[in-house]
Amino acid sequence: MLVEAKKDIFSRLIKEATHDELVWMNGFLAGLLDQGTLPAGRAQSGTGAPSVTTASAQVDKLTLLYASETGNAKSVATKFATVTKKRGIKTKLASVEQYKLTDLAKEKYLLLVISTQGDGEPPITAVKFYNAVHDASLKLDKLQYGVLALGDSSYPLFCQAGVDVDRQLELRGATRKVPLQKLDTDYAGYTESWLDTALGLLSDSTEGGAAQAVAKIPKPAGGSHKKIYDGTVITNFNLNDRDSAKRTHHIEIEAEDLAYAPGDALGIVPPNPTPVVEEVLALAEIDAQQSIEWRDQKYTVKELLAIKAQLLYLPERVVRKYAEIAGQEIPDTRMSLVDLLRIYPLKNNQEDFLQVLQILEPIAPRLYSISSSPEAHGDEIHITVARDQFYVGEKQESGLCSGYLLDVPVDTKLQFYIHPNKGFKLPPDDKDVIMIGPGTGVAPFRSFLFERDAAGAEGRNWLFFGDQHISSDFLYQTEIQSFLETGVLTEFNGAFSRDQENKVYVQDKMRERGAELFEWLESGAFIYICGAKEPMSFDVEKALTEIIATQKELSFTEAGKYLDALKEEGRLLKDVY
Ligand SMILES: Cc1cc2nc3c(=O)[nH]c(=O)nc-3n(C[C@H](O)[C@H](O)[C@H](O)COP(=O)(O)OP(=O)(O)OC[C@H]3O[C@@H](n4cnc5c(N)ncnc54)[C@H](O)[C@@H]3O)c2cc1C
Ligand SMILES: Cc1cc2nc3c(=O)[nH]c(=O)nc-3n(C[C@H](O)[C@H](O)[C@H](O)COP(=O)(O)O)c2cc1C
Repeated sequence: MLVEAKKDIFSRLIKEATHDELVWMNGFLAGLLDQGTLPAGRAQSGTGAPSVTTASAQVDKLTLLYASETGNAKSVATKFATVTKKRGIKTKLASVEQYKLTDLAKEKYLLLVISTQGDGEPPITAVKFYNAVHDASLKLDKLQYGVLALGDSSYPLFCQAGVDVDRQLELRGATRKVPLQKLDTDYAGYTESWLDTALGLLSDSTEGGAAQAVAKIPKPAGGSHKKIYDGTVITNFNLNDRDSAKRTHHIEIEAEDLAYAPGDALGIVPPNPTPVVEEVLALAEIDAQQSIEWRDQKYTVKELLAIKAQLLYLPERVVRKYAEIAGQEIPDTRMSLVDLLRIYPLKNNQEDFLQVLQILEPIAPRLYSISSSPEAHGDEIHITVARDQFYVGEKQESGLCSGYLLDVPVDTKLQFYIHPNKGFKLPPDDKDVIMIGPGTGVAPFRSFLFERDAAGAEGRNWLFFGDQHISSDFLYQTEIQSFLETGVLTEFNGAFSRDQENKVYVQDKMRERGAELFEWLESGAFIYICGAKEPMSFDVEKALTEIIATQKELSFTEAGKYLDALKEEGRLLKDVY
């Protein structure tokens, strides 16, 4: 029951609300009660549960930071900023890269959206921020905060960067008003309710209660896990010619109800090679069919070794745990389980091996830029996979996933998921697009071109592609030529590095065409870079800066600012790895 005065306010609010506002209030209150996020003192009737207006009114100024690699955290934070501004909260939105670190100690309310990259690491743009919050001399006594961590639960260290930053902020004296929330790749359905909960908790002035609350985010209908597709390989061939030093395969997979957009990637967890599994089983002298529980699921030992647990190139942290079980001194270095079992045998083989199984981590997924277009290719999804080659001593080896995919026969069943990349999307149809994608960097641009062709997009398209030799390494040559003939591709420049004495790369071709490229940029073109992070993407950005400096007669530093502005506007987009 409400006391009379509150009943009046409530009735007036309802009377004056639009239908949409009523639906929103209904959802908000239901969420608040369901989540158990009301502080203890307010959970009973008559004690003044916070309404949306009071909750938001108390957070008058908010800093919203994001740390993002592929744009998901940025897109979430940007949406948050739109909501908070609409609610009248003065909001400062920034990437942690651009944020002045000395301001952190002056902030009162902070919400941070941060993703995890690599093996539990922060995004590259967040390294400085990440290191700064680890500095014990930093004092953040005034700060009240909440961290939303984006990650992928298929990785061994789920949302680790978010976990680390959340902990460090607390250690620096800040008050965690919103419990850390980890979200998987299906994060999109949960973020809105997280923000509502977070704003409610930030504005709560009671001590302790709010900080203890668990921010349970209502699960959208249909389950909480990312969609796993059951696909079938229908095509797998080498795009390189016989004489090439490389192997890059075009792989087509058929699957039902595909939902992705150009710019997204396909995620796949590769199985371990059968000979490796057999060798581990032999060394462990264990019954392959023995049933065991691993990370809350039941498997046979063989199944676990074949498709779930990482056996190759184990991280040092796993090697250290193995050393404890084996009771041996083992150097702190990455190695395979086979080498560990061979060089540092277990004392009680079968018994100890069951313990070893428990310290193994899941095989991490690998991502491949999707090279098909939803418009043009229907129930097929295509990827462009280069063999990852490296030497172990004298022996040339292939990477686990690329090695598997290159040899995967047609008709093989493959499970995969879609990794959305909000930061690498096509612009509206009337905008011009410049695509720089040497090697497998061409993959998303094949998707872009098919998509723009199918949509009849009127914007111009310019592709810079590069590889070693035109005769053996011109990936998708026939399709590219056909796009040029039909006019879908307005411009094409190829840089084949080893066809002449001096090496020529995409950035050299860009410089050659600097004046036209700058004209496209000035008339609003969007520019995309995909492929190797190092050194390609750095060299390309440097070339772009030089082109801008020359064409606009600016210093290199001023041209850099022009480039930064393009990034801020979302007109310079990168998908590099
Ligand atoms: C967003 C994104 C998009 C991508 N798109 C594409 C794409 O379109 N096409 C593409 O081909 N790739 C793409 N990649 C890269 C791809 O995801 C994989 O990283 C790549 O195929 C290598 O994986 P792998 O399993 O073959 O190699 P891994 O087995 O993971 O090996 C990777 C590296 O680890 C080291 N290593 C592994 N084992 C050993 C060992 N025993 N001893 C010493 N060193 C070792 C080597 O340096 C090796 O190169 C993309 C990556 C990202 C993040
Ligand atoms: C190469 C790579 C490594 C990743 N490593 C991890 C990881 O160790 N732990 C995790 O939880 N998520 C990991 N992720 C998943 C990302 O955190 C997740 O996709 C997130 O939505 C990306 O957000 P962003 O676009 O803002 O960077 C990884 C993603 C990629 C592409």
